[in-house]
Amino acid sequence: MPQAVVIATGNPGKVNEFCAILKGSAFSFFASKEMGFSEEVEENATTFRGNAELKAKAVFDYMASEGKDGYWVIADDSGLEVEALDGRPGVFSARYAGENATGVQRYTKLLKEMEGKANRNARFVCCLCLIKPSNSPEFFEGECRGSILTEARGSGGFGYDPVFIPEGHSRSFGEMSEEEKNVLSHRGKAIKNMLAKLGDTLA
Ligand code: IMP
Repeated sequence: MPQAVVIATGNPGKVNEFCAILKGSAFSFFASKEMGFSEEVEENATTFRGNAELKAKAVFDYMASEGKDGYWVIADDSGLEVEALDGRPGVFSARYAGENATGVQRYTKLLKEMEGKANRNARFVCCLCLIKPSNSPEFFEGECRGSILTEARGSGGFGYDPVFIPEGHSRSFGEMSEEEKNVLSHRGKAIKNMLAKLGDTLA
C-alpha cells in the first residue's frame, strides 16, 4: 500500500504542482481540504521554516482529532525574495498586497515598487515541513534564482510566476508549462530533496 500523505495547503496552484511532481512516487496524495480541513492557519512565524511547521502541525493535529491515523503531513511555506527590496516580500509574499488580494494585484504592486530599479535579482524559496506520526518534524529546502521582469509575461502557474524569469532562461515561469517550471522551481527542488532523503525516486 502506498503511504498516504496529506498536503497541508488550500492553494490550488501548490496542490497541482505537488501532484504533478510526485506522480509516480511511492505515495498517495490528498489535499488537506479533501480531508475536511478548511481552516486558515495564521502564519505568524518570521521564517519560511517556522510557518511551514505551523501549517503542518495544524493539519497533523486536525487529523489526530478526527481519528485519521497513519497519514504523513507535508506543508510548504514559500515566497519571493527581491534583492533591491531587502528581501521583501519574503515571508509576506501571500499578504504583500493585502489579505484577499489576487496574484495579479500582488505582482502589480511588486512591478510598481521595482520601477526604475537596475538590480532585478530575486529568488523563490520553499521550505517543506514533513511530519510523520511519532517523529520530529523534518525540513527540506529549495531555491530558484532569477530576476524580476519590468512587465508581466504569460498566464501560467500562479502568484508571481508571470514576473519572474529563472536564471539562464528567456521565458518567465508564467510562460512555461507546468513540467518546465517544476524542473526549475524552488518547490520542485525542495520536493526532490525530500524524496532523495526518503529513498524514493520519481517515475
Ligand atoms: P504561502 O506559502 O502560502 O505563505 O504563500 C506564498 C506566496 O508566495 C504565494 O501565495 C505566492 O504569492 C508566492 N509564491 C510561492 N511560490 C510561488 C510560485 O511557485 N510561483 C509564484 N508565486 C509563488
